[in-house]
Amino acid sequence: MPRSVLITGASSGIGEALAREYARRGWQLALVARRHALLESLAAELSASGAARVLVLELDLLDTDAIAPCLEQADRELDGLDLVIANAGVAESFSAGEGQITRMQRMIGVNLTGACATIDAAVAIFRRRAHAGQVVGITSMARYRGLPRLGVYSATKAGLHRYLQATRMETARAGIRVTELAPGYIDTPMNRDIPSRPFVVSAERAARDMVELIERGVAQAAVPRWPWTLMGRLMQILPAAILQRLT
Ligand SMILES: NC(=O)c1ccc[n+]([C@@H]2O[C@H](COP(=O)([O-])OP(=O)(O)OC[C@H]3O[C@@H](n4cnc5c(N)ncnc54)[C@H](OP(=O)(O)O)[C@@H]3O)[C@@H](O)[C@H]2O)c1
Repeated sequence: MPRSVLITGASSGIGEALAREYARRGWQLALVARRHALLESLAAELSASGAARVLVLELDLLDTDAIAPCLEQADRELDGLDLVIANAGVAESFSAGEGQITRMQRMIGVNLTGACATIDAAVAIFRRRAHAGQVVGITSMARYRGLPRLGVYSATKAGLHRYLQATRMETARAGIRVTELAPGYIDTPMNRDIPSRPFVVSAERAARDMVELIERGVAQAAVPRWPWTLMGRLMQILPAAILQRLT
């Protein structure tokens, strides 16, 4: 029986690349996002290239009541999920004092509440049955340090980091694995208009690294590990003036 993965944010970037990588490895897929047409065309392409079952589920993570039913449907239709990846996210750049409350709420809604609710629903499913599963949260280097003009984004990723840390302790006895992956710069629509993206790698390369780290069941890792493990450490200790110049 092939294993099954649900990926949020599968219509673009890292989520789409993860879907291709898992399809290549013979997994069944539940592709989740708002842009249904993009998911349908990805599903058609993956099915045509011989993927196991591919399920398309339209979901807006701001509609929190719809999250658990979406995961339940995937669990039913794919005969049991093994892995849930809370990947969907938005990054918007603005400074304190600009009154960007709507954008704040959207980012917190998708990156924090939406990701936590996805993980909550996955844990509920995994707790119900004998063979436990794995949940993965995609954070960011911004979880290590608040970055200028990315204060709310940094806050959502730091918050998700803490939630994953707590969930890992809560679920260890039940055999549920909790993995946090913190990407550096990955070439996706999220950051294509940023003029400087040091050490940027393709989404395909990032997805391959991520799948290997997930398979190994690591608790947390930077992606790619080099140079971002070191950068994560440096980000915590660099003086603000230097960090500001680098970012
Ligand atoms: N790219 C990087 O360098 C980088 C670095 C660090 C962390 N990350 C993190 O990696 C994750 C993926 O980012 P990416 O670079 O692949 O970005 P992306 O190409 O912009 O993709 C973002 C995905 O999130 C989904 N999404 C956004 N709002 C949503 C909503 N309200 N409901 C459901 N889905 C929603 C989008 O789907 P729809 O629009 O179709 O709904 C899309 O599939 C994010 O959590 C991001 O913070 C990325």
